[in-house]
Amino acid sequence: MKIMGIETSCDETAASIVENGDLLLSNVVASSMDLHVKYGGVVPEVAARSHIEVIIPVIRQSLADANCIWDDIDGIAVTYGAGLSGSLLVGVLSARTLAIIFNKPLYAINHVEAHIYSNFITHSSLSSKKIRNSKPEFPMLAVIVSGGHSQLVLFKDHFNYTLLGQTQDDAIGEAFDKVAKILGLPYPGGPSVEKVAKLGDPKTFDLPKAKMSGYDFSFSGPKTAVLRLAQAQIGETYDFPSYKLAERLSEAQKVNIAASFNHVAIETIVDKVKLAYEEFSPRSVVIAGGVASSNELRKQLTEALPLPLEFPEPKLCTDNGAMVATLGCYKAALGQEVADPYALDVEPNLSM
Ligand code: KG4
Ligand code: ZN
Repeated sequence: MKIMGIETSCDETAASIVENGDLLLSNVVASSMDLHVKYGGVVPEVAARSHIEVIIPVIRQSLADANCIWDDIDGIAVTYGAGLSGSLLVGVLSARTLAIIFNKPLYAINHVEAHIYSNFITHSSLSSKKIRNSKPEFPMLAVIVSGGHSQLVLFKDHFNYTLLGQTQDDAIGEAFDKVAKILGLPYPGGPSVEKVAKLGDPKTFDLPKAKMSGYDFSFSGPKTAVLRLAQAQIGETYDFPSYKLAERLSEAQKVNIAASFNHVAIETIVDKVKLAYEEFSPRSVVIAGGVASSNELRKQLTEALPLPLEFPEPKLCTDNGAMVATLGCYKAALGQEVADPYALDVEPNLSM
């Protein structure tokens, strides 16, 4: 069974074909990131317009790369939330149209849930070599860390899960993006902060960790702590504007602040993962979302947990169509509900 996955929730226009829920046949991603860099974040109207321009070529390329024609495709899966409404609309309307024209079942996919499913890809006809060797086993603890989400979810089985906890304010990726801005580092902030963090010492500054009850997180406090620390370092008070900080901070101050934040933000996640691991004894722990490509996260988790960990390659951690297609395969195989191609709507605030 071959499913096409279409993803347009943010600034990546992506289409991919996955066979039987684990074999990656194509993975085409066109990003409009370059258009957003000068604004320091994704501009929704620019992203939506860019999706319209590239969605058809991206879908065509995903078929060509997989050596497929429409007759070979058994269903279409599309992200319908959460995300930017104008961006989601382009993917959903394209998928609905294709489902009607080619008479294929349509599967409505939750973006956050899809991120987890990049961990189920274990084979690839493409040249990528860093995918997992085996599928995760249930019960499975999923650590979802992206620009829009920070959640811990316990899966008893496919489509049977409990949300253990989530961020009460900023998502972790969002906090990385804001800290990068304070330090004058380019967008997206996560990779920029991690890169300069390698040059600094995480012990130079003692940034506070937010203490939240249960499995919830908070990243707004640590982000503000970075702002106050930066202001104090140059001898200014809390009313000194954040956009003027970067030019006054020395390189040493920047790399050490980046190193401290990188360490503390990731440790906040890992502390709760450890707690959940002890309480629920899952047979596997998976990470998903853009921040899952963080080397610091991979390192700290490997040290903290007693089970062998496998990670998807970074290309499958950031937004892509392969994760959408993979979840679509499981929906189709396990008889989950199909969507109405004449009615499926976007849900920008969809949660798990
Ligand atoms: O999943 P994703 O591509 O988009 C959303 O659905 O949000 O995640 C993007 C986020 C950005 O905030 C980016 O700064 C963060 O993932 N990110 C990282 C790293 N790589 C990407 N954060 C920390 N360390 C990284 N290495
Ligand atoms: Zn995402």
